[in-house]
Amino acid sequence: MTAALVHAALSDARIYTAPMNATRTPAAEPLRPLRWIGGTDGCLELIDQTLLPGELRWIACRDLPTLFDAIRRLAVRGAPAIGVSAAYGVVLGLGRGWEKPTRDWPPRVAEVCDYLAGSRPTAVNLFWALDRMRRRADALRGHSLDEAREALLAEAHVIRDEDAAMCRAIGRFGMELIPDGGGVLTHCNAGALATSEYGTALALMYAAHEAGRRFRAYVDETRPLLQGARLTAWELMQAGIETTLICDSVAAQVMREGRVQLVVTGADRIAANGDVANKIGTYGVAVLARAHGVPFCVAAPSSTFDLSIPDGSRIPIEQRDPDEIRAGFGRRTAPADVACYSPAFDVTPAEYITALITERGVIRPVTAENIRRMLV
Ligand code: MRU
Repeated sequence: MTAALVHAALSDARIYTAPMNATRTPAAEPLRPLRWIGGTDGCLELIDQTLLPGELRWIACRDLPTLFDAIRRLAVRGAPAIGVSAAYGVVLGLGRGWEKPTRDWPPRVAEVCDYLAGSRPTAVNLFWALDRMRRRADALRGHSLDEAREALLAEAHVIRDEDAAMCRAIGRFGMELIPDGGGVLTHCNAGALATSEYGTALALMYAAHEAGRRFRAYVDETRPLLQGARLTAWELMQAGIETTLICDSVAAQVMREGRVQLVVTGADRIAANGDVANKIGTYGVAVLARAHGVPFCVAAPSSTFDLSIPDGSRIPIEQRDPDEIRAGFGRRTAPADVACYSPAFDVTPAEYITALITERGVIRPVTAENIRRMLV
């Protein structure tokens, strides 16, 4: 399929109804980066993504500081996975180490939400999930602590399950865009590891692969923390998808050589006008895609949209530790005291985005009005 054909498929993709189940069920157990173990006194287990692909090790978060630290140092990362983890964090915050069996638990929920909200600033799913837990807690006022903990754990499970369902729906809506016999480029990791399961950008590839489509995934390594190399390449290969890892600087070349007919990434926050914050480097890839006539699409659930901000200039951008550039993964590769600028995310203006693929359908062209029509 050529880039022109992908463009044509997109123009037919104004889908406003519930998606059809067009995928085959994968034989293996889905990859899930997080799991709650036990009841209200249980713990949240997370795959430590900083160790992948070398080692698959789970971290047990039994208290809030452990979870906060896991989010901050990207042991759990990716906008939806951060949101789901934070929802479980509210249950952790009412558990061990906070023993007040009274009806005075609501202020504690507020305190826990405020604390977790300080872990990372850009992915709106974090604040979306915490707001939802706050609203659930408000509805439980007057109930005992035990009743509140039961109900809040149930809510966190629902948030997790809804996230998984949204990812599957994104895959079903977007799979037609995957060029049969062609190439798809992605940046960072917007796969199962970044969500409850299945992913957003990678959901398109998983669904197309399950439907028997042949294509090659081109994976930007994604400097400086290598989410593409360490996580996306690992995930896609586990799924049996043909994968080629490239340095970030090779993206222009593979487009020029005609190897790529679609670019698809995830998002950390999408403003009301369709501007998209995603991993640093995404904006550059979008500009390259435009220069080469390749469609640039963004796959994200409705929980990643922030309709309270008019455009991307209002999205807070996380700044990272300069040593992630100067001495990444423990090896000094730059002068110890060189000044660095290391934003973790950039904003791609809506005008560069061919389509937004959500669990409710495909938004194209990307305008404030079409976003509102789809989501509100
Ligand atoms: O810093 P990270 O690894 O949390 O950044 C993740 C991304 O930028 C993803 O592309 C985004 O969160 C979408 S995940 C479905």
